[in-house]
Amino acid sequence: MPFTSSVLPAAPAGYATPLLAVALPAGPLPSSLTALDAQTGGAIGRLLASGDFAGKKDELALLHPAGPASRVLLIGLGKPGEVGRGAVRRAAAQAAKRARTLGAPTLGFFLAPEGLGQVTPVEAGQVIAEGLGFGQWHYLDMKQPPEDKKPLLESAELLAPQQTAELGAGHAVGLAIAAGQSFTRTLQFLPGTVCTPSYLARQAGDLVRRHGFKGRVLDLAALRQEKMGGLLAVAQGSAEEPKFIVLEYEGAPGKPVVLVGKGVTFDTGGISIKPADKMEDMKYDMSGAASVLGVFEMLGRLKPKVRVVGLIPTCDNMPSGTAVKPGDVITSHLGKTIEVINTDAEGRLILCDALSYARRFEPACVVDAATLTGAVVVALGHSASGLMGTDEKLMEELRQAGDRAGERVWPLPLWDEYRDLIKSDIADIKNTGGRPAGSITAGWFLREFTEGYPWAHIDIAGTAYSDREDGTRVKGPTGVCMRLFAEFVLGRAG
Ligand code: BES
Ligand code: MN
Ligand code: ZN
Repeated sequence: MPFTSSVLPAAPAGYATPLLAVALPAGPLPSSLTALDAQTGGAIGRLLASGDFAGKKDELALLHPAGPASRVLLIGLGKPGEVGRGAVRRAAAQAAKRARTLGAPTLGFFLAPEGLGQVTPVEAGQVIAEGLGFGQWHYLDMKQPPEDKKPLLESAELLAPQQTAELGAGHAVGLAIAAGQSFTRTLQFLPGTVCTPSYLARQAGDLVRRHGFKGRVLDLAALRQEKMGGLLAVAQGSAEEPKFIVLEYEGAPGKPVVLVGKGVTFDTGGISIKPADKMEDMKYDMSGAASVLGVFEMLGRLKPKVRVVGLIPTCDNMPSGTAVKPGDVITSHLGKTIEVINTDAEGRLILCDALSYARRFEPACVVDAATLTGAVVVALGHSASGLMGTDEKLMEELRQAGDRAGERVWPLPLWDEYRDLIKSDIADIKNTGGRPAGSITAGWFLREFTEGYPWAHIDIAGTAYSDREDGTRVKGPTGVCMRLFAEFVLGRAG
């Protein structure tokens, strides 16, 4: 049974549940909680008065009151004036996560309206659904069931005694985004042996069947016919067949938004092989592709009035006797020749063919997401994705979508002088420019293949996954860019 959440027009007092999560702002007991407080024999009021729980951001307190809710989990939102979408989304994620560790099969979530801050009820409904889905996500299929198997969180109810319609409308959007987000994260998490290019192609096929999209998958023969020299070069060292996935959602007439996702299902570096340490994380090198597939799951559920095309070049990057070598010159789909300096700079080689292929859709704009460079982690750490592009308005639109989604992006400049770093002695361009400005030269490389449409590039190498749990992040796949893309395309749908 997949997890789901729903909206219930009920007050928290009197609601029977194994776990009642209550998100509230810092300060005295909000009046929306007086009835619940009375029902708990004044336990919530005493806790707040004691100062043991102050309602600070991410602060948690678990009570076991007598009454229809056997547990009450208080979740702090921070200062009431400063509460934003992120704090509410995180509170919902914390609730779902705690339900999982407690073994509660269901939970009720109540956001004290005094804690709305800058957030509208519609927005709150949306980010609560997103957060519940985020906190609940897990992947157990490859583990033996533990001896003391706890029940899994199967459902959640958003308690909405007031503003039920607004919370419900937002919740419906958030639920679709949450479904896409979980899909994205599961794809990211799967090992390279499972999540191959063919597997991604089958997942795309499933989306087409379930939601009635247009779509096709180019196989090896089609890639040769199409002259996708970049994708073919990267794939030639692997036994896995490369694929090029095309998805089309037509919710409105007009020029489409084209989303491109890097789909390297495992990146060893190829002949320019990577060091062993952390190489296992390179199963995440298809995170851009996963975010695009997640967006289509959302589109299929919500059916917004917008036209979106998804393009996914996907392959493995392996060293072998047939692999592409440093010094080789290849011809891209656009016709430009590329000197391969480093076979580990493979993402740009497959993306450039997708950016060239995109022209046939006469795009309103093209945005790509890719785990492209380690250098973006040096520049921005794990707190933001790198943003580059040729269109200031598009970039600002993406920046705002990222803020709404809680997936920040931050601009890096594509000044002309950086272009000099990827001049080749033998070909039109070379695929690396050395260590300085590594994310920017990668961006500049892509830019050379973006003829005739506004384009932006999001480098998610630092944000797609996390190797540790800290303040705002979880261990493992983050699903990054799925929510950003959702906000972006829904914003275009008006
Ligand atoms: N997939 C990697 C980038 C990456 C690094 C993703 C760390 C996630 C975490 C990409 O294909 C790569 O290897 N880039 C090289 C480019 C270099 C050879 C110019 C890099 O960043 O080192
Ligand atoms: Mn690489
Ligand atoms: Zn890579």
